[in-house]
Amino acid sequence: MRIDIVTIFPEFFSVLDVSLLGKARQNGIIDLGVHDLRDFTHDRHRTVDDTPYGGGAGMVMKPEPWGEAFDSILGETRPTVIFPSPAGEVFTQATARELAEHPHLVFGCGRYEGIDQRVVDHTASRAEVRLVSLGDYVLNGGEVATMAMIEAIGRLIPGVVGNPESLVEESHEDGLLEYPSYTKPASWRGHDVPPVLLSGNHGAIAAWRREQQIERTRRVRPELLSPSDFD
Ligand code: ADE
Repeated sequence: MRIDIVTIFPEFFSVLDVSLLGKARQNGIIDLGVHDLRDFTHDRHRTVDDTPYGGGAGMVMKPEPWGEAFDSILGETRPTVIFPSPAGEVFTQATARELAEHPHLVFGCGRYEGIDQRVVDHTASRAEVRLVSLGDYVLNGGEVATMAMIEAIGRLIPGVVGNPESLVEESHEDGLLEYPSYTKPASWRGHDVPPVLLSGNHGAIAAWRREQQIERTRRVRPELLSPSDFD
């Protein structure tokens, strides 16, 4: 997968050199390009923002640098361009699964009060455009949201996570929160591992884990449950 990021803070993304995603880049599974929006300005101050038409607080990102950045990144292949925004559709595991199938993702990280709307409208004429929110809260810009999305998407690309089975038994993969996990020692500071996990009875372990998933989901995220979860 090819991933391009346009940002005024390219240094944010140096963490993509490490861990599983860093390895995926070394192995050629993920090909990453980070682009400094200011490289597409032409004034001495490398200006990327201006005051909003109609008044109001804050600054808006100017369209011209974005247009030039996308001119250089978007080819003839119609990539998917994602603008992280609290005004977008909410990012879920289903979104991650869907985006993991795309060969080319481009993230446009806005700052300030956002990007001139014409950037979104014009980009939609040459790419699939999605406004995507991490959740109902406001970040200072799209960089942290982009990092979170790339991590969630990247780990679903075949070859990125060593043991693909570990992807199946995670929170949200089957619509429920995941069951609690334990490792050795069997007793620690007065807390014992649930005996069923030491029983060697695989049927009983699977049933216990399912119960735990449902109980946890009911307690913390009841809106995720559906009647079929109790079958
Ligand atoms: N930019 C600012 N807040 C955001 C959020 N909640 N999700 C995605 N991008 C954002």
